[in-house]
This record gives sequence, structure tokens and C-alpha cells, in this order.
Amino acid sequence: MERDIERILLHHDQIRERVRQMAAEIAAVYDQRRPALTLVPILSGSIIFLADLIRELPLKMKIALVQVSAYPGRAVTAHEPQTMIALSGEVGARDVLIVDDILDSGRTLRRVRAMIAERHPASLRTAVLLRKRSKAPPDVQADFVGFDIDDLFVVGYGLDFGDHYRNYPHIGVLRPELLP
Ligand code: IMP
Ligand code: MG
Repeated sequence: MERDIERILLHHDQIRERVRQMAAEIAAVYDQRRPALTLVPILSGSIIFLADLIRELPLKMKIALVQVSAYPGRAVTAHEPQTMIALSGEVGARDVLIVDDILDSGRTLRRVRAMIAERHPASLRTAVLLRKRSKAPPDVQADFVGFDIDDLFVVGYGLDFGDHYRNYPHIGVLRPELLP
């Protein structure tokens, strides 16, 4: 796995520190006395970020899952996202925080936001670990962003290529010869 990575963009220590700060930013926004929070992680890319984030978040919460795939198979450019697993859990009348690994073309978030909005949440916000600076469209904003990065294809810390590399602990740039 290591030898497929050209360089480390974000080291795990750096990610951990930023995730801690993000948890503090998020905790400051919600009412800790009347918690009605539901996190909606977008599978599968958000799993590692979610696991680290929620353990730093001192709020009572529920989790509702949804799986959307914008990069089927070994694609490295975004396609129209497909809903693979429909949204489970309670989001109506609750404070909903969508959690995703990366905001790229914004199509995934646009779709998931619309799905949740139909069920009338009390509030709807989004947290992403990464945002591709040049690409995120103006109508799809994230309320909490870990890092702004260049338009590179990255893997690790949950992010995949062909469903591999999610367990790589850092966020790295794949060797270009491995990309289609
Ligand atoms: P969007 O719909 O184009 O914003 O794409 C968002 C989804 O595509 C994310 O949830 C990721 O799963 C995936 N994605 C986007 N960019 C990358 C990348 O650089 N590496 C791995 N997955 C990515
Ligand atoms: Mg994803």
C-alpha cells in the first residue's frame, strides 16, 4: 500500500489535531442542554473521519447512515451520484449534521442535502474533512471544513481508489501511473 503513495499530503498527527479543533467548533454551535443531534455520515469515505470526530464531540447524538457513490469503481472524476443505501434513522425535527470526507464537485452533498431537507430537519449543516478549493460550487457550502486542498486525487483516512487505501492512516497522493 505504502509504495503506491507518491507523497503524504496530510500526516495523521496533523489530521488528528484539526479534527479535535473541528469538534470544538461544532460543539460550540449546538445547544448542549437540549441535544437533538443526528449525524449523517456519507458512506463509505467518511467512516474514519466520523469515528475520530464523534469521540471528540461531547454531545448526545444519534447516527443515521446513507451511502452515495459518486466515483464508481476506479473512477477518479465525479459521476452523477447514485444512492446505494437509502437514508436510515431519524432526521425529521432534529439538528442534522452531514459528515463527509471531501467536497469535490458538490454533487454528493447536493443530493444528500435534498434527501434530508424533504424530511424537515430542525437545522441542516455539513462538516467535511477536505475541500477541493477550486472546485466546490457556490450553492453547496460546508459549514465546517478541515482542510482546503488543491485539485488532486487523494487517498487514505477513509478515502479510496477502487475501494482500496481507506485504511492508510495519512492522506496521500497516489502515484500518477496508477490512475486511469
Ligand atoms: P463530489 O460529489 O464530486 O463532491 O464528490 C464527493 C465524493 O467523491 C466524496 O464523498 C468522496 O467519496 C469522493 N471523492 C472526491 N474526491 C476524491 C478524492 O480525491 N479521492 C477519493 N475520493 C474522492
Ligand atoms: Mg464518499
